[in-house]
Amino acid sequence: MEVIIRPDQNQAAQLVAQLMARELRANPSLVLGLATGKTMEAVYRQLVKLHREAGLDFAFCTTFNLDEYVGLGAEHPNSYRHYMNQHLFRQVNIDLRNTHLPNGLAPDLDAECRRYEDLIGRVGGVDVQLLGIGRSGHIGFNEPLSALRSRTRVKSLTPTTLAQNAGYFGGAENMPHRAMTMGVGTILDSRRCLLLATGVSKATIISKAVEGPITSMISATALQLHPRCTVVVDEPAASLLGEKDYYHWVFQNEPEWEQFR
Ligand code: PGA
Repeated sequence: MEVIIRPDQNQAAQLVAQLMARELRANPSLVLGLATGKTMEAVYRQLVKLHREAGLDFAFCTTFNLDEYVGLGAEHPNSYRHYMNQHLFRQVNIDLRNTHLPNGLAPDLDAECRRYEDLIGRVGGVDVQLLGIGRSGHIGFNEPLSALRSRTRVKSLTPTTLAQNAGYFGGAENMPHRAMTMGVGTILDSRRCLLLATGVSKATIISKAVEGPITSMISATALQLHPRCTVVVDEPAASLLGEKDYYHWVFQNEPEWEQFR
């Protein structure tokens, strides 16, 4: 795991977008794993900007989102399909047929989860997986006690997550209580993970995810097992990390980061 600390939210999101853009330019038929949530909006803004101003080409890439709420269809303003169409897909030259999310309205949810895993396998797996982190420590909707080898399946959302996202629904009582999510094992199978966390509200969970022991109580700790995981945080989200000086030193010294300094 590598931890990169940027001064503020904008610069953290910009670095993540630049890393994704570099991967996409190197391999135009990249398979991208995508994430939703407030934090990611800044990343998608940057990617749209790179598309408009620097010709970043999405024509040949394929995408798989981490998760979708059970019971919400594409037309629902709080579905993640709606979010993705709005923040990225309709603003770049991606072929919508190559964009995938679990279908929240599928009549057989278990079959839908199996179909999703099969589809990821059929295109050869995810090359770059973008991740946020919830205050419960989830990646995707892998809530506490998610098996570290879990695959795409239905999960019940924790009270912490319901509270975190209730605002979008006008209260937790109006919000789906379950979601389909890639498993921790599905995420660990991707070739590269990029986790972005910004703001002081993420400081406690980031310190546990990065520097705490691996535990299924905090799914993000499983990323410590991934051979190529970069965690990008802003200073407020990094504020409780014990080894901050070392992470800064790595960013300043590794040739890989020279072009981003
Ligand atoms: P957020 O969500 O970006 O809205 O904080 C992240 C997550 O819950 O994974």
